[in-house]
Amino acid sequence: MAEGNGGSRRLRSRRWFDDPSDPGMTALYLERYLNFGLTREELQSGRPIIGIAQTGSDLAPCNRHHVTLAARVRDGIRDAGGVPLEFPIHPIQESGKRPTAALDRNLAYLSLVEVLHGYPIDGVVLTTGCDKTTPACLMGAATVNIPAIALNCGPMLDGWWQGRLAGSGTVIWEARRLLAKGEITPEEFMQIAASSAPSVGHCNTMGTALSMNSLAEALGMMLPGSAAIPAPYRERGWAAYEAGRRIVGMVRENLRPSDIMTRKAFENAIAVASAIGASSNCPPHIIAIARHMGVELTIEDWQRIGADLPLLVDCQPAGRFLGERFHRAGGVPAVMRELLLAGRLHGDAMTATGKTVAEALASIPEPDREVIRPFSAPLKEKAGFVVLSGNLFDNAVMKVSVIDPEFRRRFLSNPDAPEIFEGRAVVFEGPEDYHARIDDPSLGIDERSILVIRNCGPVGYPGSAEVVNMQPPAALIRQGVTALPTMGDGRQSGTSGSPSILNVSPEAAVGGGLALLRTGDRIRLDLRARRVDVLIAEEELAARRAAWTPPKLKNQTPWEEIYRSMVGQLGTGACLEPATLYLDILETRGES
Ligand code: FES
Ligand code: MG
Repeated sequence: MAEGNGGSRRLRSRRWFDDPSDPGMTALYLERYLNFGLTREELQSGRPIIGIAQTGSDLAPCNRHHVTLAARVRDGIRDAGGVPLEFPIHPIQESGKRPTAALDRNLAYLSLVEVLHGYPIDGVVLTTGCDKTTPACLMGAATVNIPAIALNCGPMLDGWWQGRLAGSGTVIWEARRLLAKGEITPEEFMQIAASSAPSVGHCNTMGTALSMNSLAEALGMMLPGSAAIPAPYRERGWAAYEAGRRIVGMVRENLRPSDIMTRKAFENAIAVASAIGASSNCPPHIIAIARHMGVELTIEDWQRIGADLPLLVDCQPAGRFLGERFHRAGGVPAVMRELLLAGRLHGDAMTATGKTVAEALASIPEPDREVIRPFSAPLKEKAGFVVLSGNLFDNAVMKVSVIDPEFRRRFLSNPDAPEIFEGRAVVFEGPEDYHARIDDPSLGIDERSILVIRNCGPVGYPGSAEVVNMQPPAALIRQGVTALPTMGDGRQSGTSGSPSILNVSPEAAVGGGLALLRTGDRIRLDLRARRVDVLIAEEELAARRAAWTPPKLKNQTPWEEIYRSMVGQLGTGACLEPATLYLDILETRGES
């Protein structure tokens, strides 16, 4: 232990704080970090310097609890011999950022890379929570490949409205339908919405936040059992303390993201995604993390590994319960145990604990079976995402498990071919166009229509908007048609459960086939062949392509312009493409 408490390695923070070859620079770096009360002993004795990447703020209420939890993280870091340095992450509030929070995932990622690379940090606690904060943090840690552990702030407590569970987002979709039918007032709408947010924390449904944090745990980057602890629980404070302690150990062991986020870990995350009924935003986020880690993972892997796996967790929007009950039922470890026992998980993948997945799951008790079902008796069979392609796009994802008997009755094209559905496309140019025209009777929307929305992808919107889950015209809802199939090059909120063809890549704005579709075209969905096709002749499609001109995109901020010039498609993670070339950058600099 020649190099102080950092273990046998010389920690990279010593290049700043203790470089005998350059006493002048050492003094310069040191003096300003002393000015708020840190001592030379703390900074020069070789103790690991641990960053706390703070995603919470008044602008980011989903993650705001991290502002409080950080005190427990600091306690843990201190008790294990490290020195904490907290720093801010660009806020990404899913429900607060215009035009869309998705635009900021890559911005927060970029700035985190700069911080982790450019400051005296030996390891980092990533404070995760709201939808994009989790992938942004894991993407940054992957690129820099510095020891890192994720700490969720936790879901809100279960919400209640008039004696029934009121889940984040999910209850909003329900309230919108009630408002459209005239059954509630706008004031009651507000009360229902507020009832679903009863405490600090992020969305309590299995939306993108709880899904992505569950997958961070499945990847091995979060302490086992901690993803779903509700924000106000005392166990959340314990998890913060333990994450602080553990990151110091990880620095000493030089246990890095590349040791944990291997191909096997990503395959585990895909399997867990199916079992928990994860948000359709997870495939692009997980693919983005893998690409920044240098692990080959494609959208086809989701089909190959995840599509035939069953749904085990009874959480909204796919099922009944919310995050608090999911945690009490056993949470992510209970789900992983089911998959491991069924031979569908890699038990030898490494985790942040320094133990393998199988070792970490060794003493997990039997879960509450009302919430977490056994693999042999699931809620739904074959519940993962189905990956589709066709004459309009290269790939898209669909949650086939939400197709119900009503959908089958309306769209089945031939009773002898129960996997083939057909409907008439009604095309909208974006969310503004949808809102302006959805109730226009001249569109002829009926119960056999497919609602299509385009120009909502990473380049088109920009950032890719969560707008594909369009609701039918109010007149149709009043007749009892509460959902129509939808398709689009944007995304869908993870809290919505409608049968949609999502994340269509390439998007219309870059010349994807969706740009050529017209209202009145017939669309065929063939689930057995995993194809979606527009039923028009090749020559007609070619003629439309020849006549197509790209839309004029108007940027409102400098970042929108930069983002649009570099972003890829949802099918490949919507990454900043040049950034994916920077792998393991500390290794490249000989600093790891
Ligand atoms: Fe932040 Fe749902 S809006 S987690
Ligand atoms: Mg969302």
